[in-house]
Amino acid sequence: MQKRDLELGDFHNCSGEFFLAKMNDVLQSPLWLDAFAYDASHGVEHGLNTLHLANELVDNLNPEEFARLKAESEKINSGGASVDAVVQIGAFLHDCGRFADNGNGPTGRGLFAKEVQRYHPEIGAARAVDFFARAGFFSAIPYIHDAVISHEFQNERLTPHYIPGRTFIGDIVRAADQLGWLLPESFDRTLRYNNDIGQPFYSPSASMEERLEWTSSKPSSDSLTVMLCQTFGPTDERRFGTEYSRILATEYQSRLKGRLLDFARERGLSKEVSGIVEEYEARVRELKN
Ligand SMILES: [Fe+2]
Ligand SMILES: [Fe+2]
Repeated sequence: MQKRDLELGDFHNCSGEFFLAKMNDVLQSPLWLDAFAYDASHGVEHGLNTLHLANELVDNLNPEEFARLKAESEKINSGGASVDAVVQIGAFLHDCGRFADNGNGPTGRGLFAKEVQRYHPEIGAARAVDFFARAGFFSAIPYIHDAVISHEFQNERLTPHYIPGRTFIGDIVRAADQLGWLLPESFDRTLRYNNDIGQPFYSPSASMEERLEWTSSKPSSDSLTVMLCQTFGPTDERRFGTEYSRILATEYQSRLKGRLLDFARERGLSKEVSGIVEEYEARVRELKN
C-alpha cells in the first residue's frame, strides 16, 4: 500500500470496523487479527474501551502535560500525522500481542498460549510497528512501539520483566489500559476471563505470596488474586502518567473494595475473603512504606 492511500489522521475517531478493515488491507489478513476481532476479554471491544478512556485522559490533561503531548505531536507531524490518532491506535492495539499467530485467542488453548501472554507487549509492539511501517507512518513508529511495549509496566517490583515508558503518548495509553482494570465493571471482565480459562472465584490453596506477586501476564489460581491486584495495586505516576488518571484510579479503587466484599458475600465466602482482603491490604501498605 502506498503512503498516499492512508494517512494517520484517517484513524482519528474512526470505528473499530475501519481499524480492522485497514489493518487487514495493510497486513494482508494475518490469522491473529481474526482472533483479536472476536475475543471478548482482550480483543477489539477492550481496545475500543481503552481508546475511549485514552480520549478522556487527553481531554483532561493539565497544561504541563498538554505541552508534553504537543511536543511529541510536533515530531510526529513532521510526517504529516495526527498525534490523537497515534494515541488512539496505541490504545486500540495495545493487547494485540495476546493472540497467537495460528489465530487462536488466549482462551483458544493454542500452542504457546502461555508464552504469548507473557510476551504479549513485545509481540504486540512488533505487530504495531509492522502495521505502521507497511502503512508508511514512519515518524510515529517510536511512539506506537513505546505505547504497546510499556503498557503493562507498573513498577520494578511488580512488573520486573516489563519496561517503563519513554514517551508521553505511551504514558497515556498505559494509564488508559491500567485504568480499565479499575472501572466498576472490571470485575465482570476478570470473572469472565478466569471462567473461560477454567479458574474459580476463590481457591483456598492460593498462598498470600502468590496473590501478592501476581501480575497480569502470570497465571493465577483464582479470580480473587486478580481482583486484589485491581483493588490495591499502585496508583502512582509510573503506572498512571497523567494527573487526572491518578485521581480516577484512587476513586475507582475505593469502590472496588466494597464490590469485592459484596462478591464474596454473594458466594457465601465472606469469612474467607474478608480475612484475605485485610491481610493483603496490610501487606501492600507495608510494601509501599
Ligand atoms: Fe496487556
Ligand atoms: Fe489491556
